[in-house]
Amino acid sequence: MTVESQLDVNGILRTGRIVARVRDAMLKAIEPGMTTAELDSLGAQMLEQSGARSAPQLMYDFPGATCISINEEAAHGIPGERVIRPGDIVNVDVSAEMDGYFADTGGTIVVPPVAANKDKLCRATRLALKNALAAARAGAPINQIGKAIEKTAKSHGFRTIRNLGGHGIGRSLHEEPTAILSFCDKRDTRRLHEGQVIAIEPFLSTKSTLVTEADDGWTLLGQDNNLSAQYEHTLIVTKGAPIVATLSEACA
Ligand code: CO
Ligand code: CO
Repeated sequence: MTVESQLDVNGILRTGRIVARVRDAMLKAIEPGMTTAELDSLGAQMLEQSGARSAPQLMYDFPGATCISINEEAAHGIPGERVIRPGDIVNVDVSAEMDGYFADTGGTIVVPPVAANKDKLCRATRLALKNALAAARAGAPINQIGKAIEKTAKSHGFRTIRNLGGHGIGRSLHEEPTAILSFCDKRDTRRLHEGQVIAIEPFLSTKSTLVTEADDGWTLLGQDNNLSAQYEHTLIVTKGAPIVATLSEACA
């Protein structure tokens, strides 16, 4: 969507604050021995207490309140009986709707003991998101976001997943502009405009450049032993720095 009033801005910021708080609480609660279903129930409870509805449930009948993806799983992991283990790289993706406004966010942590390559992957992906946000200005080509992500990945020795990307958001979970990719697609001539609400979500990986759907019909997998990380923010495009709706409270 494109925000047309202060009411629209406030709506996006409000849902953004809720999903950011849930994301941070879930990432903080992760402990070895916990199942992903237990972790998801924390998210489900927090969303309910906030009066927000899980967007993947609402839009796609996803079998969980949040998506939790571990190690070789890149995205859309279904919460269930999988037990979180020491050294796992865990991604939590939280999106919700409140009063007709949607926001989407995600983050990744490594369960201790933290191997250097996993830590590096997370740091590089956070930096890729930061650099992508800096490229997201009214008038700028959308593919400059992908260019910033790809450049950051390469400079750290990582790849990007080419068939996952960011998207427009606001009045529903996934809107135009779709396919805000993690590489520079030269055929993409679209430009960002003022007030546009988008989600940017770089996926960096150690091996895979493509993900495939698992037999469960949801989980998106890299190849065996691939590791990936994703961080995601929902933002409103301006002529200057974007208004990021899903910052952590600590740095808001
Ligand atoms: Co998301
Ligand atoms: Co998203």
